Amino acid sequence: MTIKNAAFWTALGWLTSVAAAPGSPSAAASLPVSTSNVAGLHVLAKQAGKLYFGTATDNPELTNTSYTAILNNSQMFGQITAANSMKWVSATGLHLDATEPQQGVFTFAAGDVIANLAKQNGQLLRGHNCVWHNQLPSWVTAGNFNAAQLTQIIQTRCSTLVGHYKGQVWDVVNEPFNDDGTFRQDVFFNTLGQNYIATALNAAKAADPNAKVYINDFNIEGTGAKATSMKNLIKSLKSQGVPIEGIGLQSHFIVGEVPTTLVQNMQEFAALGVEIAITELDVRMTLPETAALLAQQKKDYETVIAACQAVPQCVGITVWDFTDKFSWVPGTFAGQGAACPWDENFVRKPAFDGIVAGF
Ligand code: XIL
Repeated sequence: MTIKNAAFWTALGWLTSVAAAPGSPSAAASLPVSTSNVAGLHVLAKQAGKLYFGTATDNPELTNTSYTAILNNSQMFGQITAANSMKWVSATGLHLDATEPQQGVFTFAAGDVIANLAKQNGQLLRGHNCVWHNQLPSWVTAGNFNAAQLTQIIQTRCSTLVGHYKGQVWDVVNEPFNDDGTFRQDVFFNTLGQNYIATALNAAKAADPNAKVYINDFNIEGTGAKATSMKNLIKSLKSQGVPIEGIGLQSHFIVGEVPTTLVQNMQEFAALGVEIAITELDVRMTLPETAALLAQQKKDYETVIAACQAVPQCVGITVWDFTDKFSWVPGTFAGQGAACPWDENFVRKPAFDGIVAGF
């Protein structure tokens, strides 16, 4: 059969009439889908010696039973990360305004839903995050705090949050660098210099010695100025005795543009004595999807999983949600999307097979 584009099928009335179920052909009937028949990605990750394969999730998504049927399958996902509800404030107001909407007033209701879900499902939980330049309440950004005050604010937040969710891995500091490798000029850096990073890490570790403390960033997946700055930061923290145990490579990639130095870069991080996690993997494309783009995306997912596989200190992989239905990409990068291994009808894409092949 000749492959037709979506407009063709829409014209025939097919696209609106085909209700795709998991495992059945996608609603976009002309596009290729997964052909793997495996029990679950987490099972494969464990067999490959990793700790987990996981996904981000978000409170508003949990009312969708097609979604939760996959999310709650602990053979598929052995780890979850709250995409918003453990942040300082939420982006949308749908998360009971996350964890500290007013100074010293902590609300864990939305985060607890995610933590309890992980517990029920027997999944690991990743804490995300203590200190980040985004999703900050105005009481922090516009408070004109002096160094002593802001230090106290960071300590209170990190220790309260990490103390509430004990025993987890935490993205304590998120996105401290600009893409050129200079420190990001946010309220924390502008008030405290790079010391805010040590303050946050120390407070998190003191609140829970069993927590594993990470710094997480994007565009540090391949070698380059930003990755080098992160390596220098790790060296400096370690030389001061500041706890730093892991580095999160967010891995928000573009189809066909996965860095070729992934393995070398991970090895360089590992040599500094930190573990590595792929924390927010997705591989976006300029829409519309085509069979060729999906085939390249499959290769890209495989490349990333195989790179983690090649480096023993890479402990696990988390996708930044598993379905295009709930991906952050279209809302953030105009004209782009289709970044996840499941499509918006919960049908597995070729990218799913790429993950399988990578393990
Ligand atoms: C994103 C969430 O997925 C969105 O729902 C929210 O609107 C914005 O933040 N890097 C991170 C994540 O560390 O916290 C971001 O999550 C995506 C980029």
